[in-house]
Amino acid sequence: MKTDMSIFYKRRKELLDVIGNSVAILFNSIEVFRNRDSHYKFRSDSYFHYLAGFPEPGTVILLLGGKEQKSIIFCQAKDKDKEIWNGHIFGPDQAAKEFLFDEAYDISQISDIAPKLIAKFPKIFSIIDNNLCHQNMIHSWIDSNKKLKRSGYKSPEMIIDLARFMDRMRCVKTDSEIKIMQHAADISSKAHIRAMQFTKPNLFEYQVEAELLHEFMQNGAVEPAYLSIVASGSNACTLHYINNDTKMKDGDLLLIDAGCELDSYASDITRTFPVNGKFSPIQKDLYELVLASQKAAILKVKAGNRFMDPHEAALDVLIDGFIQLGLCKGNHDEIKETESYKQFFMHRTSHWLGMDVHDVGDYVDEEGKPIRLEKNNVLTIEPGCYIQKNENIPKEFWGIGIRIEDDVCVSELGCEVLSRLAPKEIKEIEDLVGAFNE
Ligand code: GLY
Ligand code: MN
Ligand code: MN
Repeated sequence: MKTDMSIFYKRRKELLDVIGNSVAILFNSIEVFRNRDSHYKFRSDSYFHYLAGFPEPGTVILLLGGKEQKSIIFCQAKDKDKEIWNGHIFGPDQAAKEFLFDEAYDISQISDIAPKLIAKFPKIFSIIDNNLCHQNMIHSWIDSNKKLKRSGYKSPEMIIDLARFMDRMRCVKTDSEIKIMQHAADISSKAHIRAMQFTKPNLFEYQVEAELLHEFMQNGAVEPAYLSIVASGSNACTLHYINNDTKMKDGDLLLIDAGCELDSYASDITRTFPVNGKFSPIQKDLYELVLASQKAAILKVKAGNRFMDPHEAALDVLIDGFIQLGLCKGNHDEIKETESYKQFFMHRTSHWLGMDVHDVGDYVDEEGKPIRLEKNNVLTIEPGCYIQKNENIPKEFWGIGIRIEDDVCVSELGCEVLSRLAPKEIKEIEDLVGAFNE
């Protein structure tokens, strides 16, 4: 489907209205070498893509505010020889026309043109990060204007972090963004189903990863949103396990945390299921506990509630369960107060989800309280339980890692679970696992 470029144009206009008499400068990422002569597949910087929609590395845009708002793009010049090797280059003329910019220039001219463009603005907005190249470029433009002060040149006196405006825009999704995220979650859910059907003892984790990627790509999502975690047995207790190179054992659980990226939007789903298709009694007890905590958390997702409400709800269920199973000693309040539950549940329940898997957006408000959820925020709900080998804990618990993660979109009355097609009830899972082998 061809992307509607007016979406990016409207976002630029919205931002220009907010920044007033200032200039915003955004840089796309550059290609990264994997090793000599060989690159990683290019992916645009999310902030840049959100406003530009232009897919070439090393591109820069300047958004000039004030009365005569203008969007300007600096991109690679057409280069027939280069295009023979690496494919189409838009070049400034086509870039301006197709991506709805008012002016476009060859990127090699940027240090001559940009200082003049920024001169009359008192403030620059840019994403402040650790990219010294970008900072140096802006500083050098300011510096070259300062050197011409005696000829009457002015220059911006302040660089302000653009993230404070853009994070807010990105964190509340439009209906068309939610549609894409729903589609991404549907594809990822199908991939989890495929992985369950394929799994059986003695396969390697990477063979299951291959099934996930197959389903993503067959459905038009050509990249995972992050490296897939396919963690059997005690590998699941390593939160960001990505080696995926262990042979899966009969009797182990398999934790899969995988989601595709579609049209620059992430999905992020975790399911945990038995490699042999049947939960053992102890695995079942723990799974039911994590599932109950996850459902309790989802019930707390609603516009107006605070970001940490789902986490608190999940935590309360988990703590009671840890007491009942003999994993935590003491009463509920003590365990919460001393945070002894962190031995088994050490991460938070949610993060924002969007163009980045851990998406941008504030987590606390101006008073330092957890921020209130708004309609069309998208976040994950992902409680878990991870039990490392420990002589104080019965042996049958050792090495069990369980996480259940869904993607949810906040509404006035509650939320829509975008990843609802990925099964998580015990019966559904047991019916699916290994189904390809029957
Ligand atoms: N997949 C990374 C996370 O769940 O946060
Ligand atoms: Mn995840
Ligand atoms: Mn997540």
